[in-house]
Amino acid sequence: MAEKNFVRSMFDNIAPTYDKLNHILSLNIDKIWRRKAVKRIVKNLKNSESENLKSSQFLRFSNSQILSFSNSQVLDVACGTADSTIALAKAGIPSVTGIDISEGMINVGREKISALKINNINLKVEDCENLSFDDNTFDAAFIAFGIRNFEDKKKGLRELKRVLKDNGHLLILELSVPQNKILLSLYKLYFLNILPFIGKKISGDDKAYTYLPHSVINFPKPKEFMQMMEECGFKNVKQKALTFGLCRIYEGF
Ligand SMILES: C[S@@+](CC[C@H](N)C(=O)[O-])C[C@H]1O[C@@H](n2cnc3c(N)ncnc32)[C@H](O)[C@@H]1O
Repeated sequence: MAEKNFVRSMFDNIAPTYDKLNHILSLNIDKIWRRKAVKRIVKNLKNSESENLKSSQFLRFSNSQILSFSNSQVLDVACGTADSTIALAKAGIPSVTGIDISEGMINVGREKISALKINNINLKVEDCENLSFDDNTFDAAFIAFGIRNFEDKKKGLRELKRVLKDNGHLLILELSVPQNKILLSLYKLYFLNILPFIGKKISGDDKAYTYLPHSVINFPKPKEFMQMMEECGFKNVKQKALTFGLCRIYEGF
């Protein structure tokens, strides 16, 4: 379990080089994973909004209304430098709120959002385990590469269940360890030796990129994590492996 103050100051420290290193170390695959995740969130929002329209007996609706998601509010949890938040906003979601415990990461995100002139994003420094939002506020929540850093994952998941509306959608994108033995040995070579070396060289932080592989290796196995989501109140929990299991999408409602 990562200690909260350690995580906060580590991300504050690496914030200026985080984006550059992220894309170098993942060979830009992180962008593809985020795009895939955002597509699923959007598809689900559109489906649930059209279901709501259909179930309203007094409303006539056109095809364009069925495909819109005009009222949706989405929370991007542990948004970091806002790559995930920007991807949600660019996908047309009308209101996106990003929260992160690290002010340094949020400040980098704010600069990017103002350079891109995006105005449907609100970024806040908040701890996911104690959110300031009312119950039943959001239609969907997204956590991209954040949950393995939470000090208390169950507390974070219960908070998300609280702020999500009834049948709200939680999508978690997280790095994972591949199951194939050959891939696993290559993975360990890269992740435990090459990645910490490059990470230290570029960020100047000697702990962050040693912490990263260990936080992935220590993350609960898919079955265990899905059980944790269920214990925290999520239903229809499922998971999908991406890129030979280097990353996983977890979903619950
Ligand atoms: C690897 S970054 C992911 C950033 C972003 N979502 C992305 O896709 O690049 C993980 C983030 O989790 C944040 N974090 C860790 N614990 C947190 C908590 N309890 N509440 C909010 N954010 C937290 C860190 O500050 C960091 O910015």
